Amino acid sequence: MKLSKHLLSCSLISILLLGCGAEKKEITVKTNSEIVLDQSVIKINEALKALKTTDSFPRHIVKGEKDWRLVGVRDWCSGFWPGILWYTYEYTGDAEVKTAAEKYTASIKTIAYTEAEDHDIGFQVYCSFGNGYRLTGNEAYKDIMLAAADTLATLYNPIVGSIHSWPSKQEYPHNTIVDNMMNLELLFWAAKNGGNKKLYDIALSHAEVTMNNLVRPDSAVYHLGSFDNKTGQFIRGVTHQGYADESMWARGQTWGIYGFAVAYRESGRTDFLETSIKLTEHYLKRLPKDGVPYWDFDDPAIPNAPKDASAAAVAACGLLELAELVKDNKLQDKYRQEAKRFITALSSKNYLSGDANNALLLHSTGHHPKGREIDEPIIYADYYFMEALLRLEKLENSNHLALIK
Ligand code: GLY
Repeated sequence: MKLSKHLLSCSLISILLLGCGAEKKEITVKTNSEIVLDQSVIKINEALKALKTTDSFPRHIVKGEKDWRLVGVRDWCSGFWPGILWYTYEYTGDAEVKTAAEKYTASIKTIAYTEAEDHDIGFQVYCSFGNGYRLTGNEAYKDIMLAAADTLATLYNPIVGSIHSWPSKQEYPHNTIVDNMMNLELLFWAAKNGGNKKLYDIALSHAEVTMNNLVRPDSAVYHLGSFDNKTGQFIRGVTHQGYADESMWARGQTWGIYGFAVAYRESGRTDFLETSIKLTEHYLKRLPKDGVPYWDFDDPAIPNAPKDASAAAVAACGLLELAELVKDNKLQDKYRQEAKRFITALSSKNYLSGDANNALLLHSTGHHPKGREIDEPIIYADYYFMEALLRLEKLENSNHLALIK
């Protein structure tokens, strides 16, 4: 019974039907994630055709427009477009997409070899070179990633025990933001792939400082922790991109969920796992019915506040990661089901861009307090949506293979 249900929902294995005349017919049944991936690949190729240069990068689409607004390599979002192309290549094996991914990725190289401006080196380099290296094994990519990890580590302050996430924000002597949790993966990776072993200690200490100071007793996170750079003392928590300091900024919560899951995977520290679970449970408890959060859970304008599809996409990836790590089968199943629910919601006509523009997803919110990128397509929503779809597709097909062995 279970087997036949899976056969209907999985596509990797074609079903051979023997007709009365013993004629063989092959039927391929696609999973929902594969159907959405197929549509996404078409859209990504269209967006690619509309782009004229490989040294500027899609970031967002203004309401009513069709094309991506572009940014330079220093923008924190530069790595997401090459990352999307690598995911597309991973799914299709298309050589032209691979060539495009290589070109955009090459444009990011300067980040590794120039002075660190902020913690976003992880997003910029791990999404581009990291995916490229994972898929091609290109040794030149590895060298660039190792250099990028060393560059990121120059922002580490040993007195505080964390990376100075935004040096340009001089109103805080030393600040560490929850988004920075996502960029520890580059350091963990470098430490076990020929880089300086101290990079592991830096990542570990950074995660610890974030856990001890940015995770609040209410199980939500501050966006930013302000610290005294001379004593290491925590001064206060600020929710820079949220509604208020004590509110729950949706994307920040999801960076924490995903970031602490990865920190546990890389270190085995169970307090990081517990933190990821705690942030997840609180997030799940407060989610609106359709599984896609408002940009901030405490905006008094809810239900008329904008949503943040990007947070739902990050949450889906974080929960699929967490499901791989928890030992309890029930919890594993719960997190997979929730991730699937988010992916299904994002794959509906309420969130897919369809023919409206060149993005995959509508309705993300970038920086609400500054009035920027509100209820728009934003590139990182598409990046994490592609990642989530690929993770789900692999999971469904591997479950299927295991069942028919
Ligand atoms: N890392 C900035 C943001 O999530 O908007």
